[in-house]
Amino acid sequence: MLNIAPLSYTASKEKAEAFCSSNIALCKYWGKRDEVLNLPTNSSLSISLGKLGTRASICIGESDMLMIGGKPIATQSAEYTRLFTWINSLLGNNRPCLYIHTFSNIPIGAGVASSASSFGAILKAMNSFFGWQLNDSLLAHFARLGSGSAARSLSRGFVYAKAGIDSNGVDFNVITLPQTWSEFRVGILYVSRAKKPVSSRDGMKLTVQTSPTYKGWVEYAENCCDEMIKAIQVKDFTKVGEITERNALTMHGTMMGCSPPLIYMLPKTLEIIQKVQQLRSQGIEAYATVDAGPNVKLVFLKKDEQSIKESFPTCEIISPFESAF
Ligand code: DP6
Repeated sequence: MLNIAPLSYTASKEKAEAFCSSNIALCKYWGKRDEVLNLPTNSSLSISLGKLGTRASICIGESDMLMIGGKPIATQSAEYTRLFTWINSLLGNNRPCLYIHTFSNIPIGAGVASSASSFGAILKAMNSFFGWQLNDSLLAHFARLGSGSAARSLSRGFVYAKAGIDSNGVDFNVITLPQTWSEFRVGILYVSRAKKPVSSRDGMKLTVQTSPTYKGWVEYAENCCDEMIKAIQVKDFTKVGEITERNALTMHGTMMGCSPPLIYMLPKTLEIIQKVQQLRSQGIEAYATVDAGPNVKLVFLKKDEQSIKESFPTCEIISPFESAF
């Protein structure tokens, strides 16, 4: 465990609010090497989604309460338990009761990393509410304890989460790449807004325990991150896109080899991926990626934005380096 003093829980103000962007992994994190410390087995690399994310507010309450998008969440629910278990791990059990409210402008639990921005926003709000003034590295460690992908959500642009190998996680590290890329676009195609049937947490556990190709995935995933960093440095979009698409398909292949097989994609998901491949053969350079859900995210450049809109009229397009934080 990191050697840090327990976090104080004396409120420095009446209420605090914070926003945190969501992110899409171009090189995915899939698998944990320590479930308690929530340490990833492999490194990952993401792009922040700018204005798409979660706003959280926090104040002292008479009992713990979680509201998501204006609706109170049952105390027995998985979301509630997961959130307050994480908060107890940071503040201890003698902390004051907290009233936490989150609003996300992305669907919850549909594979668009809503947990990343939720944990990130709540952590940022707590940092301000309790006056912790934590540095970025500690914030990333605490966010990771809540959700692995949340550690990448705290900054903007391309973010690399280095898994490390230390059993206590001291070498887990989150690095914001200095490169900006104003032409870079991310598109989101919703196939289903329903909550995924198997959580990432359970899916990862099943994959680590039963997929015969899991070891290969870990080695390949590290290599993807190294190659992706080089491609971003020289703005080689073809390389970035090829790594992105292949990394996602390899992750899904690894999941499909589980016992029982883990399939997050729906027929429509594959249909879109094939359409994207077809578009490339016509000179429209887009690449697809899919997380632990059926929705498809595209990466492309500004020059192809119009063609993407024509091919996928419902596509929600984000300019990660142009939107306000
Ligand atoms: C497929 O960060 O949701 O989106 O650490 O258990 O909360 P926990 O997992 P989570 O997993 C994200 C998995 C992914 C790939 C990624 O975002 O890297």
